[in-house]
Amino acid sequence: MLPILLYMDRHDQSAWVKAFKSACPEADVRVYPDWGDDKNEPCYAFLWKPKRGMVADHPNIKIVFYGGAGIDHLLADPTLPADIPIVRLSDDGLKSGMADWVAMSVMLHNRQMPQVLANQRRKHWDQIVPILPQSQTVGFMGYGALGKVCAERLKIFGFNINTWSNSLKAKEFGVKHHYGPECLKEFLSKTDILVSLLPATTDTDDLLNADTLACLPRGASVINAGRGNVLDTTALLDAIERGHIAGASLDVFKTEPLPTDDPLWACERVILTPHISATTRHETAANHVIKSMRDYEATGKLMNLYVRERGY
Ligand code: NDP
Ligand code: OXD
Repeated sequence: MLPILLYMDRHDQSAWVKAFKSACPEADVRVYPDWGDDKNEPCYAFLWKPKRGMVADHPNIKIVFYGGAGIDHLLADPTLPADIPIVRLSDDGLKSGMADWVAMSVMLHNRQMPQVLANQRRKHWDQIVPILPQSQTVGFMGYGALGKVCAERLKIFGFNINTWSNSLKAKEFGVKHHYGPECLKEFLSKTDILVSLLPATTDTDDLLNADTLACLPRGASVINAGRGNVLDTTALLDAIERGHIAGASLDVFKTEPLPTDDPLWACERVILTPHISATTRHETAANHVIKSMRDYEATGKLMNLYVRERGY
């Protein structure tokens, strides 16, 4: 097993070393910046939000295994070597965490909880009639590793499931697929509860803006757990103010932490969580990454590789 250079920003590094040693006792895990002098000694890297220049400063890194599914922070480093292979995380901990958070959020909006909680604050007793999940369509923008497990989790409630992604998907029982920019408006017009699990790319910047939010039916809800760049929150607040959008659950933001003067904090129709919908877990992530490294050494193949031409 090759040595591993580890850096998980704002995490307890020793807990990560322990998790990797438990997944692979023979692993030689060294925490950045204590690599040592030999920068010719090949290694893998396991990183989350590394400091700018860190990867470039270690030409011995063969492959970056990222500590999350979204690698936008890493790509923002202008010194990142252009051809370094980057493997995005897609482990069971991330998937089940996201499925739980999305199921919770979809049910909150199905049960009109932003309105119910606003009524509570006003001591107003209003027995709002619940909407049957069977009469609502949940639309996933982004139907990749996370979108699929979330949709699977939601099926048990009886929602209709629509998806929108970059590429055509194989037929699937109970799920209606859409793809490509030309289908976006049609997809949105059939969506009651929108769930965005899109990555941050130049194509997804402000994809949900005044025009596209207007394509949702009146009373729709918006859930964003992908990346904050996708949603124009000024347009969202305006649509909520006008009653076009009933409410939103947001876990990701253009600026994180969300600035204290951001108007989102004060909107009672918006439920905010601080980028915690799917947290990278020590045990599942370390086991998954060690398995990926072993598979690579045995077969030369890597799963979940970042594809530069796609941007994710
Ligand atoms: P995947 O790469 O498996 O899925 C991404 C999906 O987005 C794919 O379906 C892809 O289409 C689609 N997509 C990408 N760009 C476009 C576009 N321009 N137009 C239409 N569809 C597009 O990623 P994951 O499911 O693993 O993760 C998704 C994102 O979730 C991550 O990139 C990350 O930003 C975010 N995330 C957030 C977390 C949190 O705690 N809030 C935790 C983990 C991840 P296609 O299928 O055709 O390729
Ligand atoms: C991720 C994240 O991308 O935590 O995994 O946001």
